[in-house]
Amino acid sequence: MGVAEARRRAAGEKLPRTIAIDGPSAAGKSSVGYRVAQRLGYPFLDTGAMYRALTWLALQRGVDIEDAQALGGLAHQVDVSLGPPLPGSPERCSIWVDGEDLTPMLRRPEVEAAVSLVSRAPALRRAMVAIQRRLARRGPLVMAGRDIGTVVLPKAGLKVYLDASMEERVRRRRKEMVALGRAVSVAEVRRNILHRDSIDSSRKTAPLRPAADAIIIDSDDLSEEQVVERVLALTDAKEC
Ligand code: C5P
Repeated sequence: MGVAEARRRAAGEKLPRTIAIDGPSAAGKSSVGYRVAQRLGYPFLDTGAMYRALTWLALQRGVDIEDAQALGGLAHQVDVSLGPPLPGSPERCSIWVDGEDLTPMLRRPEVEAAVSLVSRAPALRRAMVAIQRRLARRGPLVMAGRDIGTVVLPKAGLKVYLDASMEERVRRRRKEMVALGRAVSVAEVRRNILHRDSIDSSRKTAPLRPAADAIIIDSDDLSEEQVVERVLALTDAKEC
């Protein structure tokens, strides 16, 4: 917890219990959400990791990713648990399915290509949303995703919709991937982001869109630190 937040909390100031951060691919939700959570002393839950882990599992087990019912069946059969990042991991959460750590699989190209198709399946989403709500009932947290403010936690104390231009998102995502040792071209990153955004925004169940009461932050001209500070400043205005 940052010193300022610790002081505020010691002084009895109330902070939002749940902070929802939604937005399109590569807008910086995980990095910002994680840092905000750290500053507030809250756990951080990256729901994208859950959809990615299930995608990996579906591909491994040969489940047809066009078969919504089969995907729902898979999601209801497995035990999904999340934890803080493991030392040395670039991810902001670790994720375990049936006791196996699937965190290293989350950014695999085959997962990137299939995750939005898998995430359309209503029954699979219902299973994930049930877990996400259960975790939110345990205590304060910051949760990032696509449908947190609209579907998962419609009563979240603070809802932020983090956006950035396509150029900026492509630039940031490519930088991250290169840092992970993946030599991807600008065109490839752009294709993947466009592909996922288009499916995520047009699906019938829980499409990507800002909640009516979300505060939209366009981060094009802001550093990550500035976005974090802006979200923390918004927590001041909310008492829930
Ligand atoms: O956030 P991230 O890019 O890791 O999410 C990967 C994919 O998981 C998204 O493109 C989307 O298809 C799906 N997702 C979702 N709902 C969420 C979080 C992620 O459908 N709450």
